[in-house]
Amino acid sequence: MADLPLDLDDVPFRGIVEQSLAGIYVVLDERFAYANDTFAAMFGYSREDFVGRHMADCVTADSIDEVMRNYRLRIRGEVASIHYFTKGRHRDGHAIHLELHASKVECRGRPALAGVALDVTQRVRAQEELRNSRERLRELAQHLNSARETERARLAREVHDVLGGMLSSAKFDVSRMVRRSAALDAPELHTIAADLLTLMQDTIDTARSISDQLRPVSLDAHGLASTLQQTLQRFGTRHGIQVSLQLPAAPLQLPPASATQIFRIVQEALTNVQRHAQARQVELSLHLAPQLLLLTLRDDGCGMDASPRRPGAMGLLGMAERAQEIGGRLEFGRSPQGGVELMLQVPLDHATPEAGHA
Ligand SMILES: Nc1ncnc2c1ncn2[C@@H]1O[C@H](COP(=O)(O)OP(=O)(O)OP(=O)(O)O)[C@@H](O)[C@H]1O
Ligand SMILES: [Mg+2]
Repeated sequence: MADLPLDLDDVPFRGIVEQSLAGIYVVLDERFAYANDTFAAMFGYSREDFVGRHMADCVTADSIDEVMRNYRLRIRGEVASIHYFTKGRHRDGHAIHLELHASKVECRGRPALAGVALDVTQRVRAQEELRNSRERLRELAQHLNSARETERARLAREVHDVLGGMLSSAKFDVSRMVRRSAALDAPELHTIAADLLTLMQDTIDTARSISDQLRPVSLDAHGLASTLQQTLQRFGTRHGIQVSLQLPAAPLQLPPASATQIFRIVQEALTNVQRHAQARQVELSLHLAPQLLLLTLRDDGCGMDASPRRPGAMGLLGMAERAQEIGGRLEFGRSPQGGVELMLQVPLDHATPEAGHA
């Protein structure tokens, strides 16, 4: 302990440089004048075989220009040091990803570069794999979303058209039974028929509501604005929440896929209001800006707490995914009333008109 601290002159630099786990090199007149074992091994060479090689022979063809440009900038003294990533060329031809940091020094009376290098190939590959797997997950999520949407639309049509049609015919017959039984001296039969008619009507309403929950018929028939209006009104009535809606004067010009995604985002947001917000009021507004649809949904509830995401909570994630699918941006903030404010921006360029007059 008594000998500490050391002067720089006392430090055995050679040992440090040669044992360094980072590659260390000196470039003089565009050739490697020095390389430690680690640096030479990155390229698949022994130190003896590596020293003397030209820089351009040790990098991939698409990196040569950048490497030589960076070299000259420092040799000419225009930049003192540069920290950058490039691709080296291994002895057997494959690319190695390098992180380099080198500065201008003087070597044998001439300008040279002294640098440190890390082989970051594993890290770059891991990042590429992560990016690819995120991309694949996103594609899978989009595929599942669109398959689910198609299936819902099919079921909604079956329930609405087929089941709804059969129930309406049955109701027609039951109402005839009610009329006929009224003329007979059979009060019990008449009561049964009348009860059956009420049951038929309830069944028809239930089938319609199931079909609407699967996919509102009006989304294809009348467009997004009118569907949102209906949905909001029903939501208000069902949950005793005061609702208000502001729509642009001009018809919305949305591709059908965007209309569906926007509708689903609002649907999930309303479900969240009902489940989590304890709100008394909900405001939905749609504005048209040049090439942009702006949708805002505000509630006056308790607001979103900052606690970490509940495992398994998928609503907000699904909304973000849907927004991204249509090139939109989704943000959450605090509404002026203290609850949650959802803001969705959807680009309108390349849009084809949505079905119906919204
Ligand atoms: N309008 C809101 N007001 C208050 N809290 C909200 C509101 N919307 C969302 N939250 C909070 O954000 C959390 C995440 O919402 P998210 O929709 O992702 O999950 P969830 O509704 O809990 O479950 P699900 O996966 O069934 O949608 C909710 O658990 C709730 O705490
Ligand atoms: Mg939810």
